[in-house]
Amino acid sequence: MRATLLKCSLVVSVTVGVFFALSGSASAQITRYQEDQRLGTESHIGNVTGHAKAAAMDYRRYCVGCHGDDGDGMGANEPWLDPKPRNFTLGQFKCRSTPTGTLPTDEDLFDTIARGLDRSNMPPWNTFTRQQRADLVAYVKHFSPKFQTEKPGTPIQIPPEPEVTADRIKTGQVLFQKLECWKCHGVEGKANGPSADTLQDDQNRPIKPYDFTDGTRPKCGSSDQDIYKIFMTGLDGTPMPSFADNVKPDEAWDLVFYLRTLQPMHSKERQIAKQLGLKPIDPNAPVPEATPAATPAPAPQQ
Ligand code: HEC
Ligand code: HEC
Repeated sequence: MRATLLKCSLVVSVTVGVFFALSGSASAQITRYQEDQRLGTESHIGNVTGHAKAAAMDYRRYCVGCHGDDGDGMGANEPWLDPKPRNFTLGQFKCRSTPTGTLPTDEDLFDTIARGLDRSNMPPWNTFTRQQRADLVAYVKHFSPKFQTEKPGTPIQIPPEPEVTADRIKTGQVLFQKLECWKCHGVEGKANGPSADTLQDDQNRPIKPYDFTDGTRPKCGSSDQDIYKIFMTGLDGTPMPSFADNVKPDEAWDLVFYLRTLQPMHSKERQIAKQLGLKPIDPNAPVPEATPAATPAPAPQQ
């Protein structure tokens, strides 16, 4: 009797041992201690403090099917999704108010979760309470060691939005040509530029540029401020770069206004473009030095 009992408990402990070894290797080589420590991750959204631990149930219920148990984007639905769910362990995010290569702020993640990502299977989660969302932000962060060792970037400064004018739209068009947005997005913004079919994301998966003409919303929000942020911070993990080093803050508004003329929605920008008879850029023509209106009259010939 005693002997059998002993044998039994041996079998049990061996099985438990194997189980732990397996689950250990599956969770990206982090120890139980580190896991516990990470579950202490917090987020701060205004006066709401989010706690990773408190989001475990919501994550399991609403997010795990796509983002996976380990947050690596390998949930059960992953094979059927394009674009693929985000791998949270990398700590790399598209929608940020912070410079390229830096971590997003808690608010960035909080807004993204409520907004969802257009043209993907990531739905808007706007029925959650602020507390639930703040907890989920902390939970998303807890998957990546980067959030333990790095601080989020400093959000970029966005100057107040100026009045839309014909000159600003023309300057924006010059930028669109000079910065070679058209190489990916196409001269008319139809996502058919010469590089469009060759693009890959950081995981070597094919990715398409945004088609400005198809009436969909940009992924990281559709306000003028959101569009400003998209090309001044870049969509990290994709070929869509940050142009912060090439565009002055005030000029960035001109570019936003020009991009609006490419979209089919009714807008003041589109109306002005129509009045101007604005034609798509000609990539073979030399880039104008400045907008026609801003160019001083040519100096008289000597
Ligand atoms: C049906 C699948 C699906 C579900 C369910 C889902 N997601 Fe996503 N999620 C995605 C996909 C796909 C992307 C990537 C979209 C892209 O890159 O355009 C994504 C991206 C994200 C991102 C990254 C955004 C960025 O800026 O890069 C966050 C954060 C996120 N999801 C959080 C959540 C949370 C929290 C939940 C649960 C409340 C959730 N997701 C549920 C599919 C899903
Ligand atoms: C090397 C190719 C490339 C260049 C150059 C490029 N983009 Fe993009 N852009 C992309 C890709 C790819 C996406 C889509 C990323 C995604 O779906 O996650 C994108 C997306 C966008 C978006 C919308 C975000 C969304 O929902 O997808 C805007 C706005 C944008 N680009 C503006 C610009 C502007 C303005 C320029 C020039 C200053 C520019 N891009 C230059 C590749 C490029």
